[in-house]
Amino acid sequence: MSMLEVQKLSVSYGRVRAVNGVSFEVKEGDLVSLIGANGAGKSTLLKAVMGALTAEAGEISLAGVPLGRAPVEERVRRGMYLVPEKRSLFNSMTVQDNLELGTYANRRALRFQDELRRIYRLFPILEERKAQLAGTLSGGQQQMVAIGRALIARPKVLLLDEPSIGLAPLVVQQIMDVIVEHKRQEGLTVVLVEQNARLALRAADRAYLIEIGKVVKEGSGSELANDPQLAEIYLGAGKAGRETADAASSIV
Ligand SMILES: Nc1ncnc2c1ncn2[C@@H]1O[C@H](COP(=O)(O)OP(=O)(O)O)[C@@H](O)[C@H]1O
Ligand SMILES: [Mg+2]
Repeated sequence: MSMLEVQKLSVSYGRVRAVNGVSFEVKEGDLVSLIGANGAGKSTLLKAVMGALTAEAGEISLAGVPLGRAPVEERVRRGMYLVPEKRSLFNSMTVQDNLELGTYANRRALRFQDELRRIYRLFPILEERKAQLAGTLSGGQQQMVAIGRALIARPKVLLLDEPSIGLAPLVVQQIMDVIVEHKRQEGLTVVLVEQNARLALRAADRAYLIEIGKVVKEGSGSELANDPQLAEIYLGAGKAGRETADAASSIV
């Protein structure tokens, strides 16, 4: 079944079109990666899917139901949850209080204490730091709180905007392992936006390459990872991609 379907979505900032007729589909329980360079339109696309930005054209369906112009809260209620690039934690609140905010979006009315135990099993360091203010955590720990809070909301579709950005390779791997494991065990559907193509393609059932607001390639994770043209630019096989590749390899 198609869990998320985006058809010909366009989004503009004033006269600048950042997303230009993008279509993609995510099957239930799949992880789909949207990769592309800085400025390609990935964050804009995710924000529009979440309803935080208004699309000027296109249609989005969640579990077969068109979302129309539903606001963010309604999309959350229907099972969508976005972990934005900036993580949006409350820095002067504790780890545990930040996690508790996920329960407001929880559609199954599960007990917070049970949910907490589940998250602390996934990220044991958060239990050690539960009384610490979120603003004083390392970047990796903050990302774990942001993802933990999202998982407490028990979404059908989790949207992740560049979870790897600025984090050490080991931490990135740990976070990706949790996402992939969670997807496998609980059938979570994931949309992963990443500049780090190597990382994103490894975990992807399907992937889309976005350039200047358009999908220019799509395929399975391994198809794109083995695409010579893509390898040249995004995986560091050629000169043009060296800068991107260096950035990527420093966090893979
Ligand atoms: N708030 C904004 N106002 C105007 N232009 C924006 C805004 N946010 C992003 N853009 C522009 O839209 C394009 C896509 O940006 P973005 O979606 O952030 O790309 P990505 O996430 O792939 O790096 C870029 O050209 C960027 O400069
Ligand atoms: Mg972005």
